Amino acid sequence: MQKPKGTYDIYGDKSLEFLYLRKLVTSIMEKYNYSYIETPIFESSNLFHRGVGESTDIVNKETYDFKDRGNRDLTLRPEGTAGVVRCFVENKMYAGSLPYKCWYMGPMFRYERPQAGRFREFYQFGVESFGSFDPMMDAEVISMAYNLFKLLGLKDVKVSINSLGDKESRENYHRALIDYFKPHIGDLCEDCQRRFETNPLRILDCKIDADNDVMKNAPKMIDYLNESSKKHFENVKGLLDSMGVEYVVDPCIVRGLDYYTHTVFEVSVSIKELGSGNVLGGGGRYNNLVENLDGPSVPGVGFAVGIERLLFVLEKEGINIKEENSLDVYIISMTDECKKVSLFIANKLRLNGFNVDLDFNSRNIKSNFKAADKFSTKYIIIVGEDEIKSKVLTIKNNNTKEEFKVALEDLVSFFDEKLGDIYED
Ligand code: HAM
Repeated sequence: MQKPKGTYDIYGDKSLEFLYLRKLVTSIMEKYNYSYIETPIFESSNLFHRGVGESTDIVNKETYDFKDRGNRDLTLRPEGTAGVVRCFVENKMYAGSLPYKCWYMGPMFRYERPQAGRFREFYQFGVESFGSFDPMMDAEVISMAYNLFKLLGLKDVKVSINSLGDKESRENYHRALIDYFKPHIGDLCEDCQRRFETNPLRILDCKIDADNDVMKNAPKMIDYLNESSKKHFENVKGLLDSMGVEYVVDPCIVRGLDYYTHTVFEVSVSIKELGSGNVLGGGGRYNNLVENLDGPSVPGVGFAVGIERLLFVLEKEGINIKEENSLDVYIISMTDECKKVSLFIANKLRLNGFNVDLDFNSRNIKSNFKAADKFSTKYIIIVGEDEIKSKVLTIKNNNTKEEFKVALEDLVSFFDEKLGDIYED
């Protein structure tokens, strides 16, 4: 049996990196006062058609759609925002205190051509923040993405921002794109000809025609912003400047999802192996999505980071984020008869907060010491017939090799004294 194309298993070092990232993200989210949210991995197909957009590649070409045994049309989520908005509306969370700020980390599914940094099942860490039109919220979300990468020690991250403006600005731009592309439409690929009919903005994220001059000379959204959209964008930039977030304005960023309004942004790195997959994360403001999914008019801003791409870049930059798990105690049983007592001791110590493991394979003493070293064990307990009879255990400090004789009943207080200060916080 083999895993499906475009998927991968998480174990060994990779699982340590995942756990470390989750821990780091959890602590950063506490600092920004974002709460944790989980939504289903599959949703009604309709949610993504209406949320992400019929004209996007994600919905058109990349979703994993299926019917369940009750004949319902379901889709494995290709991204997190639509599900979080559905949850926000369905649970009337808009009636509570706003802004409502939340984060998630979990698997997403897109039927894309697998390559470096591009999978069919991949993980995203994402945030969504509902209920504020203030440019401060755009700036908080962009700075959060920036700070995450800086805290991890990444050097060459580039934050690119753009504005897609409000409805009026986008309608003006839409007309300009139609006028511009109409005489050239025959020169573009079949997909772009379809996009011209459904949503000309989507022509701009075509990968096939990206280097075509027609594409390069297309009108830019930023030239079609009305006064209030311009003001919003200027405010966002001013706030980023004041926080010291470095960014460039890139008028070519349109993003591959239909829900964005005003600010959009992407964070990328220049790593050759990743090719077009060098975008670590992206997001922006979506002022109409809640309403489009049957909620009231509540604005939102958010972003998501691809975990695999982030791990790939950390490795390339030589940044080690593995947090080795070390054992407090490893227990060795000298005979089969001692195993019951060993497990009793392990259970007692674990219930008292210590990390404990023991030999399950009746290995010889040398292999057991090796196993203890592999787990960076601090103390080793050897349980033999004599120890059971006398109820006094021999405990060895695995670093200094110092030995202690400790009565079974004093075991927990012994380790409390030796290792307790580690657990003080
Ligand atoms: P997105 O740009 O489609 O945005 O995805 C965000 C990140 O997910 C990308 O920058 C990339 O790192 C990662 N990613 C996307 N596709 C793949 C793939 N096939 N394999 C590996 N990594 C991938 C969104 O998903 C929006 N929901 C972000 C957002 C949240 N906007 C507002 N709120």
